[in-house]
Amino acid sequence: MSLEKIRESWATRVGFVLAAVGSAVGLGNVWRFPFQVGETGGAAFLVVYLFFVLLIGIPAMLVEFSIGRDTRLNPVGALAEYGGGAWKYIGGLFVFIAFVILSYYSVIAGWVVRYFLDSFTGAYSDTPGEYFVEISTGLDAVLFHAVFMAAAIAIVAYGIRQGIEVAVKVMVPSIVVLLVALAVYAFTLEGAAEAYAFYLSPDFGEIAADWQSVLPAAAGQAFFTLSLGMGIMITYSSYLEEDRNLGEDTGIIVAFDTGIAFIVGLVVFPILFTVGILPDEPGPGAIFVTLAQTFGEIPLGAVVGIVFFGVFALAALSSAISILEVVVSYAVDELGAERKRAAFGIGGAAFLIGLPVAFDSAYIDLYDQLAAEVLLVLGSLLLVVLVGWFAAERALKELEKGTSGLGTLGTVWIWLVRVPVAIVLVVSLYLGVVEYADLLREFI
Ligand code: PHE
Repeated sequence: MSLEKIRESWATRVGFVLAAVGSAVGLGNVWRFPFQVGETGGAAFLVVYLFFVLLIGIPAMLVEFSIGRDTRLNPVGALAEYGGGAWKYIGGLFVFIAFVILSYYSVIAGWVVRYFLDSFTGAYSDTPGEYFVEISTGLDAVLFHAVFMAAAIAIVAYGIRQGIEVAVKVMVPSIVVLLVALAVYAFTLEGAAEAYAFYLSPDFGEIAADWQSVLPAAAGQAFFTLSLGMGIMITYSSYLEEDRNLGEDTGIIVAFDTGIAFIVGLVVFPILFTVGILPDEPGPGAIFVTLAQTFGEIPLGAVVGIVFFGVFALAALSSAISILEVVVSYAVDELGAERKRAAFGIGGAAFLIGLPVAFDSAYIDLYDQLAAEVLLVLGSLLLVVLVGWFAAERALKELEKGTSGLGTLGTVWIWLVRVPVAIVLVVSLYLGVVEYADLLREFI
């Protein structure tokens, strides 16, 4: 009936890498990371998290890239083709996860946009706690949730080259430059030395005492921040045309994401210590209440506020587009939908799903913990088992392209994926489900 549609692709290698970095760097680094660090044992959490990023995150990212570039399909199509049979339901799981995450992600990102605008007037400085309560729920929150979602829809509607690639080429370098500038500024503050000491000295006793909650939290954070476990990296690598070295790209992406999370700590903690607020009262509002109030007190605070929330908004947007793209690529490839309509319809549906969170922020934990500690871990586990045990040869052949031969690295990778990564994921998933069941019980 119709000629096969020509699938889009990235215009440049840099475009793909920047898009993946843009996806990885987001609320996970700026909002979620500091409050996870505070909530689960300070620097102790940091150590477990880094361990997960290196030993689990890198192999799991390569799993997604090998599937995506090999099949050049959206995650649902890719898994149907790759695994066949029942594996295609993992693709369905990814679509579900995308809706869950995008919906609340956009509500929080909406707060960020609001705070960015408010930084120009200093609206939040006088009574930060009350201000946050006032704007974080109700119609204010709904409005900014809509604004943010509309921006994500607009970018995705323009497609890979003209939408996502153009956007990330502007956004990602801006994020990096502005954040480094903030870290240099923070270094000049009075409280910097004390802050570095707090941030950089782990207390291993704490990990041991609390491992049942540190472990799944650190695993969840690793997957969340690297955008793994829901097919984003499958989708992005499916638009790759040339065969480049995927191992190299993975290294760059992980290094940027981890580096940026680390630099955020170098910005946030010196500011808090300078004003004399110890970061012992974490929670989803930490950045908006504790940190925002300091902008009224530190030197050049107004400018710092504008830059900080500006960076934060860009980072959130470059991630939200990747989440939306997972579902849009599915609708376009498999259901024959027109891209603009798909972006609008899917973004609109995610907007509606996010409304409970916009009206009552108590729902955030319910969405967020389900997504990070249960769904993303489950998604990654299924992919790791599929590639490790059912399609190892095919995946190795794919990763070999663009290299001068994988050698023993390939063997190391596949065995990492088959055994230790799979085991850690099973354990994390179990603990994550137990923790989530507790949370649900508390909630009801
Ligand atoms: N990785 C991004 C972040 O850290 C966004 C994201 C989260 C993408 C979870 C997918 C899954 O904010």
